[in-house]
Amino acid sequence: MNKIVFEEVTKSFGTVIAINGLNLCVAEGEVHALLGHNGAGKTTTLRLLLGLLEPDNGNIAVFGHNPLKDGHAVRSMCGVLSEDVGLYEPLTVYDNLLYYADIYGMNRVESNKRIDELLGRFDLFDKKGLIIKGFSTGMKKKVALIRAMLHRPRILLLDEPTNGLDPVSTTDLRNMLSELAKQQGATIIMTTHNLEEAQKMCDKISIFRHGQNIFTDSISALKDSAQYMDNGQFSLEKLYMELETAGARQ
Ligand SMILES: Nc1ncnc2c1ncn2[C@@H]1O[C@H](COP(=O)(O)OP(=O)(O)O)[C@@H](O)[C@H]1O
Ligand SMILES: [Mg+2]
Repeated sequence: MNKIVFEEVTKSFGTVIAINGLNLCVAEGEVHALLGHNGAGKTTTLRLLLGLLEPDNGNIAVFGHNPLKDGHAVRSMCGVLSEDVGLYEPLTVYDNLLYYADIYGMNRVESNKRIDELLGRFDLFDKKGLIIKGFSTGMKKKVALIRAMLHRPRILLLDEPTNGLDPVSTTDLRNMLSELAKQQGATIIMTTHNLEEAQKMCDKISIFRHGQNIFTDSISALKDSAQYMDNGQFSLEKLYMELETAGARQ
């Protein structure tokens, strides 16, 4: 019940098959990376999970809810950081966050407390009254991540969260996510191209290729297996390259 499950899901856009018999299972409390090249179907998977797209075939369950029939319940459980960030540039950091807190149905006292707490933790407190326009990509991502976390969602969906972030912001983000996963038991699904980041941030990985999940395993099991060692160190890169080569031969 308390898991996110995709069973044999397909989704096409015209003649493009974006998702092609996808099977995926993410348990509650897991930090799970979806890895794969551009066009592999990662973003489409997140949109299906949120009930923003209708699958052509197959079943999706999010903690027992069908995202299409029960879209509101699913979306209210989720905090989302989309690739395009989607902040209102003419508004201040505070106004952007407050706007969403209102949508999430938080009362003003609770909103102000939570906004201040998260701005403090992300080292953005002194930017609270500034407008978003002119912020760096890293700063915008941090504000958008705070927005996604405001209502303490059970599920956090992060689409390429560290794309465009400097190393310091990436480390900040990594710390925030592990704290969120550990303290609040949040279930986190993040998409990324960055293997090193997946290895550091996640419990499990799934590798997507042409709309299918071609490999799922836990980072700890992978680290224990000698198969993907490179110079005595576990190398996700090596695993990824082997799967890519195997896929290319098919
Ligand atoms: N709204 C859409 N209309 C048409 N094609 C789409 C749409 N969304 C995604 N696609 C196509 O579906 C495939 C998977 O895309 P996407 O899920 O965005 O991949 P990823 O996030 O892994 O880069 C790509 O070929 C993409 O061009
Ligand atoms: Mg994408």
